[in-house]
Amino acid sequence: MNTKTIKIFDTTLRDGEQSPGASMNTEEKIQIALQLQKLGVDIIEAGFAAASSGDSDAIRRISEQVEKSTVCSLARALPKDIEAAAHAIEPACYKRIHTFIATSPIHMEYKLKMTPELVIKKAVEAVEYAKTFVDDVEFSCEDAGRSDIGFLKEILDAVIKAGAGTLNIPDTVGYRMPNEMGAMIKELYDFVGDKAILSVHCHNDLGLALANSIASIENGARQVECTINGLGERAGNAALEEIVMVLKTRKDIFGEYKTNINTKEIYPTSRLVANITGIIPQPNKAIVGKNAFAHESGIHQDGVLKHKETYEIMKSEDIGLNHNSIILGKHSGRHAFKQRVKDLGYSISDEELDEAFIKFKDLADKKKEIFDDDIRAIVTSEITKIEEIYKLIGMQLSDCSGGVPTAAISIKHNDTIIKDAAIGDGTIDALFKTVDRISGISGELVDYKVDAVSKGKDALARVVVKVRFEDSKMPVMGHGLSLDTMEASTKAYVGALNSYLSMKK
Ligand code: KIV
Ligand code: ZN
Repeated sequence: MNTKTIKIFDTTLRDGEQSPGASMNTEEKIQIALQLQKLGVDIIEAGFAAASSGDSDAIRRISEQVEKSTVCSLARALPKDIEAAAHAIEPACYKRIHTFIATSPIHMEYKLKMTPELVIKKAVEAVEYAKTFVDDVEFSCEDAGRSDIGFLKEILDAVIKAGAGTLNIPDTVGYRMPNEMGAMIKELYDFVGDKAILSVHCHNDLGLALANSIASIENGARQVECTINGLGERAGNAALEEIVMVLKTRKDIFGEYKTNINTKEIYPTSRLVANITGIIPQPNKAIVGKNAFAHESGIHQDGVLKHKETYEIMKSEDIGLNHNSIILGKHSGRHAFKQRVKDLGYSISDEELDEAFIKFKDLADKKKEIFDDDIRAIVTSEITKIEEIYKLIGMQLSDCSGGVPTAAISIKHNDTIIKDAAIGDGTIDALFKTVDRISGISGELVDYKVDAVSKGKDALARVVVKVRFEDSKMPVMGHGLSLDTMEASTKAYVGALNSYLSMKK
C-alpha cells in the first residue's frame, strides 16, 4: 500500500488563543510550542505577528527554541503583516508565512469591500511578497466553505503561479456538511493535482469539524489544521487528538494514511494546554475528557475486566494516559521527584525544580497520594509563574452561617507585610475585596472556575479567575492551586493582579 502522510498543522497558539479567555503569555506559549514539537506536530502556527508586539515577541522566542517543527506566523494579505511575520519567524530552522484573504461573496462585499478581481490581485501580491522572505508560503481562502468553487479555482491557480506551496481551504464558520466538504476538496484536488498541498481548517460551529476534516483527508487533503482540545474561535477548531486517533484506531479504513504524531504525547499535551489556559475539556470530550476511558456501569466494568476490548476501542496508554498513576508520597526524595517530572515530559531548570519540589513536599505532607495530574499542575504553575509583585502570606476567614462573611489577609509587597480585612457578600467577595484594599487597585471579577486536579476528597483545587482591574478593557487571568479552595481562589486573584501589573510595566 502506498503510504500518504497527513501533515498536522497545529494552530492552538493562534486560532486556539482566539478562544474566549484562552490568552497566554510568552513563557506559556513557549512551553506549549516545545510540547507540540515533542508531540510531533509538523507545523506550529505560533501566532499572528502583526496583531501585537506581544504576539510577535512570542513567535520570535518560539522560533529561537523550536528545532524540528516548522514555525509559522499568520499574516493578512498586506505588506506590513507579511513583514511582521517574516521578522518574527526569522530565527526558526524551518519557517512558513501563512497569508490569507477572504473569498466568499459576503466577506468580499461587506468586510473587504473589494471586487473578486482585486482580491485575486491582493492574494497574488501577498504570496509573491512572502516568497521574498521564505520558501514555504501557505495561502488561505478565508470562508472558503461559503465561496464559489469556480472563484476558488481561479484564485488558487493564481497563487500557485505566485509560489504558494500549501493551499488551505478553511470552513471558517463551520457551515459545511461532511459530504459537501468532501466533494469540494475532491473537486479542488482534481484541479490542483500535485502542484501544491491541499489543506483544510474546519471550525466546529455545528459540531462537524472532525467529520469535515476526515472527509477532506479521504478526498485529497494532505494537511489538516487543528488545535489541542479543540480550542479555537467560537465553538473551536477540529481537535488534533480526535483526528489523529480516528486515523490510528480505524486502520481498516485509513491504513494508507500516516501522521508524524507520537500519540503517547497526546494526554500530556492536552493537560498542559488545559492547565495553562484554564480551559478544561468537558468530562465527556472524546479522547482527552476525564471520562473518555472511565467505565461507570456494572455491565461495562464487568466486560472490561473480562476482556478490555469489549468496551474499549483505544488503549489509554496509547494517548499517554497512565491509570496507575499514584506515584509519589511524602517519603519521596528530590531525585524521585526529578525523575517523575522528566518522565512526564517536562524539561525545567534546577531552580524551577527546587521550587516545584518545595511545593510537592508541602502537598505530600497534607495529602496521602500524589497523582501525575497533581505533579503536572505543580510544575505548570512553576514554569508559567510570573513575578510575584504581591505574594499571599496568610489568610483567615469567618463566615459562620447567619454571620457576616469576613476575611483577613496578609500579603508581602516590596519586602513589607501588609495586613487588612474586609467584609463581603460571600467569602470569595470578602477575600477579593481585602486584596483590593491591600493593593489599592480595584478589580471586577469577570469569571471564576474551580475544578479538582485529581481525585479524592483531598484533591488539589485549581481555581482560574478572570479579573478586569481599574479601567482596563481586557480582563487578565490568574491561576491558584491549593488543597483549600478559598486559598486557591485568593492565590488566583493575586496572580491576576500580578499579571495585570506586569503587563502595565
Ligand atoms: O478560520 C479561518 O478562516 C482562519 C484563517 C485565518 C485560516 O482561521
Ligand atoms: Zn480559523
